[in-house]
Amino acid sequence: MKGAAELAAEQAAFWNGPGGQGWLASYARIERSIADVGKTALAAAAAKSGERVIDVGCGTGGTTEALAEAVGPTGHVLGADISETLVGAARSKRVPNATFVVGDAATHPFEAAVHDLVFSRFGVMFFGDPVAAFRNLQQALKPTGRLVFVCWRTPQENPWGLVPVRAAAAHLPPMPRPGPEDPGQYSFGDRARVERILKESGFGTFTIEPLDRPIWMGESVAEVVANAGRFGPMARAFAEATPEQIEKAKAAIGEALAPHQSADGVVLPGACWLVRASAG
Ligand SMILES: C[S@@+](CC[C@H](N)C(=O)[O-])C[C@H]1O[C@@H](n2cnc3c(N)ncnc32)[C@H](O)[C@@H]1O
Repeated sequence: MKGAAELAAEQAAFWNGPGGQGWLASYARIERSIADVGKTALAAAAAKSGERVIDVGCGTGGTTEALAEAVGPTGHVLGADISETLVGAARSKRVPNATFVVGDAATHPFEAAVHDLVFSRFGVMFFGDPVAAFRNLQQALKPTGRLVFVCWRTPQENPWGLVPVRAAAAHLPPMPRPGPEDPGQYSFGDRARVERILKESGFGTFTIEPLDRPIWMGESVAEVVANAGRFGPMARAFAEATPEQIEKAKAAIGEALAPHQSADGVVLPGACWLVRASAG
């Protein structure tokens, strides 16, 4: 079993390498897919004028910008992310009352006990040592502060992710199967694990509510198929596959997604947890 330091180093390498590049290259499509979930999470966070906020795993800073607008000129948002590539893109937005830092949520020396809100849209599932990271974030909050984040539930509850992977799997080299404690897209799917992490890291009362939303994957099946394997669990299998395997995998994905084509594009169900916790 890999230790926390090794898992953290792997994630840092991924998000500073192919993960960050893939996220950036696909960001316009990704943003359309997750904007609605993000809006619900931002509404739940209810950032107020003058507040100090950390947007953890902020990526290109889309939600940091929204939070900065909500806290206004008397407030401040710190976008923190492990990826130099994505923080570079976030900084280029030049949000006046936001600053961005490249750092690991588990070890970055956030100013202690001064923040009102720690927020994240899908940025908390990749920590090598989640308890260390959440403890570090908890210590950055004022005693009256709050944590609000969204994360994916299990793959089985997320057909937008599972349907293409299942269809392609038979034609591709084996895909890595992360262990229950490994970081990854679905690592917070198990509600009991999220509860345990929050309790062990010192948060007070919390709620973990299902948040179900349709996920837009592209305008057409052809577009989704063309982008398949660029990012997410299939990326490595695609990288190792032969051209014939890729062709067969893409044909299978197209067939599996065809029933989900609608006038609004290719849309499949998505399932998240909306998590709220008090600092103490
Ligand atoms: C799925 S992306 C979400 C990005 C952004 N929140 C959004 O919604 O557009 C996950 C982000 O978490 C960041 N990340 C992964 N591990 C991290 C860590 N240990 N500390 C801080 N950020 C991390 C990644 O670099 C990536 O930007």
